[in-house]
Amino acid sequence: MIESGSQCGDAIAAERRAATRQDRPTWNELPVLAGPAVMNLPSPADALAWRPYDESARHYDAFVEHPGFRDWIRSLESVSRSHGRPGPRLLDVGCGTGNSLAPLLGLGLDLAGCDPSPPMLGVARRKLGRQVKLTQAALPCLPKLGQFDVAWALNDVINLLLDPGHVAPAIASLAANLAPGGLVILDANTPATYSGFFAGVHTRRRSGRTYEWRGATASFSPGGLCEADLSVTDQAGATVGVRHVQRHHPAATLEAGFSHAGLQLVDVFGQDDLGRRQPRIDFSRDPKVIYVARKPQ
Ligand SMILES: C[S@@+](CC[C@H](N)C(=O)[O-])C[C@H]1O[C@@H](n2cnc3c(N)ncnc32)[C@H](O)[C@@H]1O
Repeated sequence: MIESGSQCGDAIAAERRAATRQDRPTWNELPVLAGPAVMNLPSPADALAWRPYDESARHYDAFVEHPGFRDWIRSLESVSRSHGRPGPRLLDVGCGTGNSLAPLLGLGLDLAGCDPSPPMLGVARRKLGRQVKLTQAALPCLPKLGQFDVAWALNDVINLLLDPGHVAPAIASLAANLAPGGLVILDANTPATYSGFFAGVHTRRRSGRTYEWRGATASFSPGGLCEADLSVTDQAGATVGVRHVQRHHPAATLEAGFSHAGLQLVDVFGQDDLGRRQPRIDFSRDPKVIYVARKPQ
């Protein structure tokens, strides 16, 4: 059962409906989903960031397939252990099709996930089975989903907050879902990502489909918005085109967010393309920086 989270009230639900295309499948038409489609998305601006996932969910996994992904997720779980996570309950915010949860199945963890996109959650449900609780909910105003020992948001999720003013409330809503001593873990894309992969042209042929990614931002500036077009053509020649939009959030914005939420930063490190920890952070070289912060006991 995928549940719906609602905390931000009727106005937000109305904004979500207004921001939702009329011709996409409704919640009840989706094959493996059940339950009402109450949404807590804070603003139509953020809908620009999640809508591409609604529209291309069935093509997502083949596009992002990477031999090192499972190890990346497991390495971050091991980072949580090295920082003394108090227990086994882990919430994956922006879980998408479940790739940031699937590598943790069978490790004795108590897993839950949430995402604003019903089609992404539908794929996750098929992948994860019934043992993982999934909820339709979004940053920056998560409902109370439980008391977790780790709440993480991985693989671009924080950069999908297009309003920089949403970073602090988003981190606060992750913190509100933590038990005392629990950890927030998130990755943030750096200028190296936005002037590198995001701005480039990449063609991938996978699972009988052709993916073309084309950067669409004339010039990147720190703290700015970045856009790219992704088109997917399937074996029958049908093409789906979506525009991805993200915002770069500088380290100072994130650090202020952790501090505002009353969390203590316990680890910050850069990673290379394969998710390997770097000895020191270089924002112009490392595509991602990982932040680990603890809620006081
Ligand atoms: C690049 S995917 C990453 C999915 C998953 N974490 C993974 O590692 O495969 C980004 C996900 O963030 C979700 N998302 C977009 N805006 C969000 C928001 N405001 N709050 C939470 N999730 C969001 C999208 O629907 C999408 O599933």
